[in-house]
Amino acid sequence: MNDRLDHPAEDGQSDLIRWKTDAWQDPRMVNWYSGRMVVSESTNSLKNALEIGAIRRFASGPEIIDIGVGTGRAALPLVADGYRVTGIDSSQAMLDETRRLAAGAPISLKVGDVAALPFGDSTFDCAVALNVLVHFPNWRESLLEWKRVVRPGGRMVFDIHSLDHAHAAYGTDESRWPAPLKRTQTKGDFTHYMSRVSVDELVEFANATGLTIVAAAPYGAFLGGGNVNWLSYAELDATQRWKRVLSWFARDQALFDLGYFLEETVVRHLTPRVTGRMFVVFDNRPDAQANARFAADVAARDAALDQRDFAALQPWLPYSREQFAAELGKLLKPLRSRHFFFGLFKTLVTRMPGFDFRGVLAPEVLGQFHAWLEHEQIDQRATNIARGWAAGAPFRFKDGIDVSVGTEYHLVKALLETHFGIFDGGRQ
Ligand SMILES: C[S@@+](CC[C@H](N)C(=O)[O-])C[C@H]1O[C@@H](n2cnc3c(N)ncnc32)[C@H](O)[C@@H]1O
Repeated sequence: MNDRLDHPAEDGQSDLIRWKTDAWQDPRMVNWYSGRMVVSESTNSLKNALEIGAIRRFASGPEIIDIGVGTGRAALPLVADGYRVTGIDSSQAMLDETRRLAAGAPISLKVGDVAALPFGDSTFDCAVALNVLVHFPNWRESLLEWKRVVRPGGRMVFDIHSLDHAHAAYGTDESRWPAPLKRTQTKGDFTHYMSRVSVDELVEFANATGLTIVAAAPYGAFLGGGNVNWLSYAELDATQRWKRVLSWFARDQALFDLGYFLEETVVRHLTPRVTGRMFVVFDNRPDAQANARFAADVAARDAALDQRDFAALQPWLPYSREQFAAELGKLLKPLRSRHFFFGLFKTLVTRMPGFDFRGVLAPEVLGQFHAWLEHEQIDQRATNIARGWAAGAPFRFKDGIDVSVGTEYHLVKALLETHFGIFDGGRQ
């Protein structure tokens, strides 16, 4: 397949597209994917809520095509909202599953390819695609085909990975990216490849093809798994501790509520620099001036982010600082929620020293977080001291086995208890 607009097919691109398409023909994949809709694991339900919320917010009707409909995750809620929905997918097995899950609800389903839709020009008011373009390097070619079937003035809504986010985290020189990020950009690595796009590329595409960009809304700042937040990767996502914290989302409603609140009141009002994933909305009409205003607004939000102060972002946020602080205060009452938020707080204060949390976090929470930060530093220092002692100890190896690890635990405990007085949490 050729990627139009001066982006010729690269080596391996067609193989990647074929592989991504064929993978979903397997009924076992369909079963696995369908199960994810009902089994709540880790942050799945948060991802689901955010994605379906965005699709419902941005879609316009009455005639909608859901491209790569899969098991109808986007299409069925839209049917429930009263839209007339047509789902297309290259996998008949997926369409069969959607038909089953629809349980008699009216939806039209057809086999078709994302880049060659079996419909005439201007058939639909809106095209939506959820978790589809993220797989395809030929996003431009697909979008041109979607534009063809959407009427003039209609709309296209889809999610894709954010190149600006990867750049914000690790710079524009991809050779310097860490291996787990690099492999997601490697077209030959079929399982890990992710399609990443920058706001500049989206605006350029809109101008070149007669579209108006309406949104590039970031989401999923702490979903983990395949949606790593690269800005906090080293401190959070790469650690087992954080994976465990995220796993609590599946069972802890209070934690879910906190995550959802942060996404809805902060994350989605920022820019694609802050998360690995975004929703993009194009209207099918040319408006170069609107596209220029959009680009300027993204630049203004980025500049506000750089100021490291809630007040600078205020013009774009739905809540005042006081309202936000009051809601956050309630959501931070459960200890698990507070522990999760502490992870984010720690990353922010490390990544953006000087970020002003005053007025956003209650003084007692802020005080506790600073105490926890101090405890972690003491803990690390005590561990280093204990490791240093054991390194030179004559008893370190017994029958060839390093026994210093057990000693280390007791040394750290003794240091924290007697010297720093923080082992039992007595000091706040
Ligand atoms: C990750 S699933 C997403 C399904 C659904 N939209 C959702 O969000 O749950 C990707 C879907 O795209 C479909 N697909 C893959 N390649 C395709 C192609 N070339 N043309 C049409 N559909 C394709 C797959 O069969 C699968 O149903």
